[in-house]
Amino acid sequence: MKKLLLIIILILIICGGVAYAITQSNQQGAAKMSDKKVLVAYFSLSGNTKSVAEQIHSQTGGDIFRIEPVSPYPEDSEEVTYGIGKEQVSKGILPPIKNTDISGYDIIFVGTPVWWSVMAPPVKTFLTENNFEGKTIVPFITHGGGGGYSTDKDMANLAKGARVLSPLVVYGKGNAETVKEITNWLNKLNF
Ligand SMILES: Cc1cc2nc3c(=O)[nH]c(=O)nc-3n(C[C@H](O)[C@H](O)[C@H](O)COP(=O)(O)O)c2cc1C
Repeated sequence: MKKLLLIIILILIICGGVAYAITQSNQQGAAKMSDKKVLVAYFSLSGNTKSVAEQIHSQTGGDIFRIEPVSPYPEDSEEVTYGIGKEQVSKGILPPIKNTDISGYDIIFVGTPVWWSVMAPPVKTFLTENNFEGKTIVPFITHGGGGGYSTDKDMANLAKGARVLSPLVVYGKGNAETVKEITNWLNKLNF
């Protein structure tokens, strides 16, 4: 009888431990960031990356801003795609941007559309001009069908000293599933 009681107590202890471990690993992504200063910084030309940035921001809180080129791109996206955008990418031009101060943040979500298989040039400027030493970068990338390429690795190469987490890659501005996808992604990240 005593032995049986001991076994039951042991089982209860083990179950309690497993339940605690599961709770910890399922802790909401936003809760995991609660003691950190969070920024969502993105560049967007036609609104897709902006839309994903806003959905991320609504789950993470913190601050959000669009990386603003000093010289705005032309309104006509075809003109950007085959003109100035293509030229900046192929020549490795870093267009000047207005707002770059990230010094007060611990976790920086960095959003970019894919331009000719790489990140958009203003984002490249943003990552080059700032000091990311000791900070955590979380890339999110939107594309027009080609995928995220190696944009997250390119970000890691530019942002020296940063810890770069697993990226979210979204086609266009996402769909009805995107909010859930963002929640799952945030929950899995090891902040
Ligand atoms: C200059 C330029 C180059 C692009 N190159 C690619 C590309 O190589 N692969 C791809 O899948 N989509 C490409 N696209 C499409 C964009 O990545 C996609 O539409 C993105 O979601 C746009 O984001 P935005 O609305 O935030 O600007 C390109 C768009 C532009 C303007």
